[in-house]
Order: sequence, then structure tokens, then C-alpha cells
Amino acid sequence: MKILVIHGPNLNLLGSRETGVYGAETFDSLNARIVSLCAELGMDVEIFQSNSEGGIVDAVQGRKYDLLVINPAAYTHTSIALRDAIAAVGKPAIEVHISNIYRREDFRKHSYISGVAVGQISGLGPEGYLLALRAAQTILSK
Ligand code: DQA
Repeated sequence: MKILVIHGPNLNLLGSRETGVYGAETFDSLNARIVSLCAELGMDVEIFQSNSEGGIVDAVQGRKYDLLVINPAAYTHTSIALRDAIAAVGKPAIEVHISNIYRREDFRKHSYISGVAVGQISGLGPEGYLLALRAAQTILSK
């Protein structure tokens, strides 16, 4: 079982970026927790971050994986291309947001991705990624 975790634009700045919204945990610390939980759950994992929409579409299309955990960040609200890539590949995808996108600005309340995702976790902080990984294991073991 191989999980691809994709972090969208600006998530590489976790730990210094708007800490009141996204918390103080650094990007490296979050990724270390992702790697450690995947090892515990017996799943292979690859982590990819890009600030570019095309780079993320290429990763969705080109990497080998059984399930995608993706925080599309701002592309959540803008990217039909990313939605189409997830639909085209046809692998299960779990959408994660650190903040609760429904409690923020109106433009964040619409996700182009949720319609092609198995489910969405929003507002539970970085923990949301770890919950998504546990859900991934359940989904893949069915
Ligand atoms: C985010 C929410 C998005 O609206 C925002 O553009 C992000 C991060 C989150 O994890 O809460 O960059 O996806």
C-alpha cells in the first residue's frame, strides 16, 4: 500500500506562516509525523510539495500510489485542472485542510476537489493529515 501525500502552495511555510490560523508546527515536523505514522501502519509513503498547479497535476498523474492524501491549499478554491486530474487517475483521494475552510472567508467555502474526493477533513489542524492516513488504511484494506 502506497500513499502519496501532496501539500499545495505555501504549505512549505508551515510553522512561520499565519500561525494563528495554521499553528506553530513546522512543515518538517509534520512530515516526520506523517512518515512515522505510515511506518506504524505498515504503509509506504511519498511526500510531495509544490507551489505550482502544473507540478501538482503532474504528480497526481505521474506518481505511483494507491491513495492520495492532498491538501490542495489555495488550489482547492480555483483548480478545475487539479479536480480533473484526480478524477482522471481514479485513485481514492482524501482532502485535508488544516484550518476550517467553512469558518473563513467566503471564497474558501467552495472546494473544486471535494466532489472527486472520498472525504474531507477540515479544521482539525495538522492532525487532519494523520486522521486521513488512518482512514486511508481502512479504505485500502476493504
Ligand atoms: C488550507 C486552506 C486554504 O484555503 C488555504 O489557501 C491554504 C491552506 C488549509 O490547510 O487550511 O493554503 O488548505
